[in-house]
Amino acid sequence: MKFFVDTADVGEIRELADTGLLDGVTTNPSLVAKTGRDFFEVVAEICQVVEGPVSAEVAATEFDAMLAEGRKLAGIADNIAVKVPLTRAGLKTCKALTGDGVKVNVTLCFSANQAILAAKAGATFISPFIGRLDDIAMDGMQLIEDICDIYVNYPSFTTEVLVASIRSPKDILEAARIGADVATIPPNVLWSLFNHPLTDNGLAAFLADWEKTGQSIL
Ligand code: G3P
Repeated sequence: MKFFVDTADVGEIRELADTGLLDGVTTNPSLVAKTGRDFFEVVAEICQVVEGPVSAEVAATEFDAMLAEGRKLAGIADNIAVKVPLTRAGLKTCKALTGDGVKVNVTLCFSANQAILAAKAGATFISPFIGRLDDIAMDGMQLIEDICDIYVNYPSFTTEVLVASIRSPKDILEAARIGADVATIPPNVLWSLFNHPLTDNGLAAFLADWEKTGQSIL
């Protein structure tokens, strides 16, 4: 399973990239707005920190403008994945951009039928938002299972299932059980995966015993 981080905060991305476990980054207009920084500057910086795909979202809603924005974003770096919404114009843009050889992340997916459309449009990634479905008492993880089951029926579908709107470590575990390709994870949730009280307690005990030996490894 690939781990992307869902943030536009370059400091946080740098820290996570240092772990060697980061495969990519997703941003969205809300995350960029949170930084208070220039969009192009932030995205270009992220693309230098991380080798894997960096999703940057278009703001236009009509096809011509969306395509022009997508092409401009794709020009920032080779690892850009242009993010387009799952609308008619978004999928038309997806088809045109993938035709240009540009990676496309189709976002705001809330149904398996939408995911089928995205795959047919040649999307590199489909981003179903599980947390936002759970928020309205629907089953986000069931959507991931449905999309993965459907995609496996059609070998010509090469779209990767990118689980988005993740809220907790449990979401990652369940998505991994299902076999989703990618999880895009908020930084705090990603860091929390490292933690277990038994690891901390066990390490403290080992270190205390090691000290008693009076030896050193180096
Ligand atoms: O970046 C897309 C998605 O992960 C947003 O998540 O928490 O705003 O629903 P959230």
